[in-house]
Formats: sequence, structure tokens, C-alpha cells
Amino acid sequence: MERLSKEEDVVATVGDYKIKVFSADKLADVMRINKTCLPENYPSSFFIYLHQNFPKAFLIAEKDGEVVGYIMCRVEYGLSNMGIKLTRKGHVVSIAVMPGHRRKGIATALLRAAEKALKEYGAKEMMLEVRVSNTPAISLYKKLGYKEVKVLKRYYSDGEDAYLMAKELEEDDDEK
Ligand SMILES: CC(C)(COP(=O)(O)OP(=O)(O)OC[C@H]1O[C@@H](n2cnc3c(N)ncnc32)[C@H](O)[C@@H]1OP(=O)(O)O)[C@@H](O)C(=O)NCCC(=O)NCCS
Repeated sequence: MERLSKEEDVVATVGDYKIKVFSADKLADVMRINKTCLPENYPSSFFIYLHQNFPKAFLIAEKDGEVVGYIMCRVEYGLSNMGIKLTRKGHVVSIAVMPGHRRKGIATALLRAAEKALKEYGAKEMMLEVRVSNTPAISLYKKLGYKEVKVLKRYYSDGEDAYLMAKELEEDDDEK
């Protein structure tokens, strides 16, 4: 189904790229990017579930109408990764940028915009899992203030370990 883009869908820009909230007509594009960039793939129902429950934290990067990246997240309530307390955690479920569009700040913009949205959903801290071999992603997360909290042994289906990375969301950290 065709859907005209609304200006309010645009939450940030990076050069010629627009960071926009995901809409269901972009599902095939996002699933293609996910399959191209990552071994962790999901059924369409999972993408739609995240979009319906946390719409502001499911974002795409677009240039001239072409989707080149996405981030999707959820909010979980549970034990903090930063201290001994119960808290609301923004969880980055998946993020990817197509190879020809990398190192232009797109993932940084997607992650920053998602963090802002997750704060609006009441998240007090962020968390994500990343393969211990994924140097580009680990560098990105460290640059944005994430710290390795623990190693999750054999987290991935092929047996690779993950780092659990986390960071606190400050009230005033939007512009960092
Ligand atoms: C990880 C990924 C999302 C980064 O996307 P990106 O748009 O290229 O990232 P950015 O341009 O915002 O990079 C921001 C910073 O991350 C780090 N970084 C990104 N790619 C890097 C690389 N290949 N090597 C080292 N550092 C890298 C750098 O510090 C970079 O800042 P700089 O360009 O000023 O040096 C992208 O490489 C990707 O889609 N990878 C495959 C999917 C994936 O691994 N997703 C994460 C799963 S946990």
C-alpha cells in the first residue's frame, strides 16, 4: 500500500539522509536490509509487533525514497544493568545500515533518535547485545557512551558470545 511521507515523520537529517519513523509500507525494505546485513532474521510479524508497540523507536534512514538503514527497539521492565534496582530499559533489538551508505553517521543518528524516543516511553537506561567479533558496531556503541557490562556466553545460535552493553539515559543527554 502506497503511503505519502509526512514531514512530521522526519525526526532528524544527516546530509541528504532523512531519519523517519517506520511505516508498514517499508516492511519489505527493512526485512531486505536485515537479511543483507545480519544473520539474525525475524518473521514479518515480529517487525510489525515492534512497530505497533514502540512506533517512535522503530526508525528508518532514507535517501531519495530509498531505505538504506533501520533501527528497531522495545522497552523492557526489569533489573537494571547499571545498579541494583528495577527499571525501564530501552533495548536495541536490531540496527543496520546498507554497506554503500556506511561511515556517514547514519547509525549514530538512528541510535540517537531511538534513545530520545525510548526516553519518551519512560526508559531510564539503554541495553543491547552485540557479537564480540563485531568491531564496527562495538566502536559505534562505545562512541555513544555504551559500556560492556558482561559477556553472554554462546548467546548466538552459531555459538558466538555477545557483549551486553548498556548506558544510562540522562535527562539532558540529547545533544551529546
Ligand atoms: C554497525 C553499523 C550499523 C554502523 O553503521 P554506520 O552508519 O556505518 O555507523 P556511523 O557512520 O554512524 O559510525 C559511527 C562510528 O562508529 C564506528 N564505526 C562504524 N563503522 C566502523 C568500522 N567499520 N570500523 C571501525 N569503527 C566503525 C566509528 O567510531 C564511527 O565514527 P567515525 O566514522 O567518525 O569514525 C553498520 O556497520 C552495519 O550495519 N553493520 C552490519 C549490521 C550490524 O552489525 N549491526 C549491529 C548489530 S549489534
